[in-house]
Amino acid sequence: MMKEVVILIGLQASGKSTFFRTQFAATHVHVSKDLLRNNSRPARRQRQLIEEALLAGHSVVIDNTNATLEERAELIQLAHQYLASAIGYYFDSRPGGCLERNRQREGRERVPDVAIFATLKRLVRPSYDEGFEWLYYVSLEDDGAFVVSEWDAEESVSEQ
Ligand SMILES: Nc1ncnc2c1ncn2[C@@H]1O[C@H](COP(=O)(O)OP(=O)(O)O)[C@@H](O)[C@H]1O
Ligand SMILES: [Mg+2]
Repeated sequence: MMKEVVILIGLQASGKSTFFRTQFAATHVHVSKDLLRNNSRPARRQRQLIEEALLAGHSVVIDNTNATLEERAELIQLAHQYLASAIGYYFDSRPGGCLERNRQREGRERVPDVAIFATLKRLVRPSYDEGFEWLYYVSLEDDGAFVVSEWDAEESVSEQ
C-alpha cells in the first residue's frame, strides 16, 4: 500500500489528537511537536522522525496545528521525496468550539485563550495547490462523532 503523510490542520482543541487516536493509531506513526517539548531543536527532530518512519515503510500522522503554508510545504515536500501521498485533514476551527473544549482540559493540555487566537491569525486554509493528493474537512458532531467530508473550498470559506 502507498505510504501516507497525513497532515492534521486546526486550532488547539479542534480535535486533532483524538482523531489520531481513533482513526490512525493502529496504522500510522504519531509525530507531534507536543511530544518534543524537551528537545532543543524540535523542528529538526520532527523531520528526522518522519524520515525514519517513511524509510522503514510506515505511514505517519503529523499532529500539530500545521497552520501555515510554510509548515505544510516542508511536510508535503518530504512526503513526495519518500514517494508517499500527502493527505490533509482540516478541522473545523471556528474559535468558539475550540475555546470551549480547551476550557474543559486539565493541566498542561490547556492553553491560554490568547494562544488559540494567535493560531487563528496564522491559520491558512489548505488547498490542493499546495500539492496535497487528498484533502478532507473534519467536523465534530454534538454526540462526539467525527464527520469527515471531501474538501470543498467554497464550503470551507463559509465556516467563519
Ligand atoms: N469529537 C469530539 N467531540 C467532543 N469533544 C471532543 C471530540 N474530540 C476531542 N474532544 C475533546 O476536545 C478536547 C481537545 O481535543 P484534542 O483531540 O486534544 O484536540 P487537539 O489535539 O486539536 O488540541 C479534548 O478534551 C477532547 O477530549
Ligand atoms: Mg493535540
